[in-house]
Amino acid sequence: MKLVESTWLEVEAYLKHASGIIIPCGSTEQHGPMGLIGTDALCAELIAGRVADETSTLVAPALFYSPAPFNTGFPGTLSVSEELFQAMVGEILCCLIAQGFRSVYFLNGHGANIAPLSRCAANHPPGRTRIRSWWDFPAVDALRRDYYGDWEGLHATPSEIAITQTRYRAVPAGLAAAPPQALSAAEAASRAGDRHGHPDQHRRQFPDGRVGAHSALANPGQGGALLAAAVAAVSEDYADFVN
Ligand code: NI
Repeated sequence: MKLVESTWLEVEAYLKHASGIIIPCGSTEQHGPMGLIGTDALCAELIAGRVADETSTLVAPALFYSPAPFNTGFPGTLSVSEELFQAMVGEILCCLIAQGFRSVYFLNGHGANIAPLSRCAANHPPGRTRIRSWWDFPAVDALRRDYYGDWEGLHATPSEIAITQTRYRAVPAGLAAAPPQALSAAEAASRAGDRHGHPDQHRRQFPDGRVGAHSALANPGQGGALLAAAVAAVSEDYADFVN
């Protein structure tokens, strides 16, 4: 059930028998030559929407605006500061908790959200919040590795693009038809959590926007399987969280 498509009376009735809510978290940033700007938020929203249906849970509007300063050298990327994102999430959390929501589950699709989300969660008692990225779950990660191996890469990944292709348009590969420059394991590790540095330098180093990811390997069939695996894993984890 989508919060924005509910009435306040329906939310009040929901809170008489449930107290959990899912908040999809993404970004508005370039995702290479064939990835949609909203990829991170669209993936989180798609997965969270299905989980909400399967678990009869409310799902809040997705957070599309988040920190992505490293990608602002590419047109279409709309980045807000970590401080602003953290303040916004903090106020949303306080609102929910004051109204009787006891369990707030952040389903994340953007690496740079993890640090500010974790700092928000730290301001509330343990057990009130849970933060998971959809690729965290072993069954989902195994599929990504199986389909794409090292070409999954870090940004504009074939797995996230495949998930968007289940619902939104598939963009022709164009510049992304050729494999990207490969990342060493050390370089990949140094960029964990989206530590990509200054925007000018980032665009110079990765001119088409992909970071080690061979986006063109994506197809909607694999996207459907990734989506199903993520929905199953998140539904189970959400049930564990609220019970
Ligand atoms: Ni992404």
